[in-house]
Amino acid sequence: MTQSETGNVGSPGPLAEDEERTPTAAAEQVEERPPSPEIDISKPHIARIYDYILGGKNNYAVDREMADQVVKVFPEAPIAARINRRFLIETVRWLIQEAGVRQFLDIGSGLPTQQNVHEVAQAIDKDARVVYVDNDPLVRVHAEALLATDPNTIVLEGDLCDPQALLVRPELREHLDFSKPIALLLVAVLPFAEDNEQAYDIVRTLCNALPSGSYLAISHPLKEESTEQARAIYRRASLSGRPRTEEEIRGFFAGLTPVGCGLVRMADWTPPDRPNGLAEGDNVISMDDAAVVKKLPGMCGIARIDH
Ligand SMILES: C[S@@+](CC[C@H](N)C(=O)[O-])C[C@H]1O[C@@H](n2cnc3c(N)ncnc32)[C@H](O)[C@@H]1O
Repeated sequence: MTQSETGNVGSPGPLAEDEERTPTAAAEQVEERPPSPEIDISKPHIARIYDYILGGKNNYAVDREMADQVVKVFPEAPIAARINRRFLIETVRWLIQEAGVRQFLDIGSGLPTQQNVHEVAQAIDKDARVVYVDNDPLVRVHAEALLATDPNTIVLEGDLCDPQALLVRPELREHLDFSKPIALLLVAVLPFAEDNEQAYDIVRTLCNALPSGSYLAISHPLKEESTEQARAIYRRASLSGRPRTEEEIRGFFAGLTPVGCGLVRMADWTPPDRPNGLAEGDNVISMDDAAVVKKLPGMCGIARIDH
């Protein structure tokens, strides 16, 4: 993934090779009026903090202030966010190209950026269907604008922590065919279900609702000093975000069949069809970053759901 792939919808366009989109540069471009009155810009929001860390411009002063505090204690956060996006993009590519999946349920989808799930999937099969779910109303506002002309993709405001309510939503049932495999994407969202038993239950409930041959993809921060410090900053603003131990993260794959390299540290993950690494030309990380990437405190992986 190139730098330009992490720029946001509505950004001035791809960056020049040698141009850095730092959080500060992104901040200067920000329009501080919320796009609708329901958007609260007095408190930081996870989606907007993540957007800022990725170098996007759909964020507000309160989000940037918190993100800057997070980056102080966890300086690798911008690289972690890019590597996380690479995992998501490569996972979607593999699922549609190699695993034959044509339907995606992306919960905690985040603000639109470049190489969104529906774009990656529909570049391979224009009929691929995607449901985005996020509990941040700003995500819906931006995604609806982006998706206005795409009949195969919808966005729902919904809560990961209430999977039963989500699963009975008529829009979801009408858009996805629950008799055919569905890829459930829970990428960098499970930390926001802080209670372990509740989080396992959420994943079990969602996986049980999907037919055999479906897939689950997750990424999750590991509990280390830097991520715990970041969590403390979130907590002061009443935001959740729990890093977990390797064992706790492995719990999400209980009863499922890991695919390819399975659940591994972010740096070690390779798409199942590319066990020796990413394709030539995928320059998401420069050589300078390689040492940092190696130590990134996060895990990710794909598993098949067989009932
Ligand atoms: C770190 S971002 C990850 C975005 C995207 N999945 C990615 O990996 O690039 C986490 C997203 O989860 C959303 N989120 C947090 N808690 C949620 C919940 N309980 N239900 C649905 N979405 C939630 C946030 O609003 C944010 O957009």
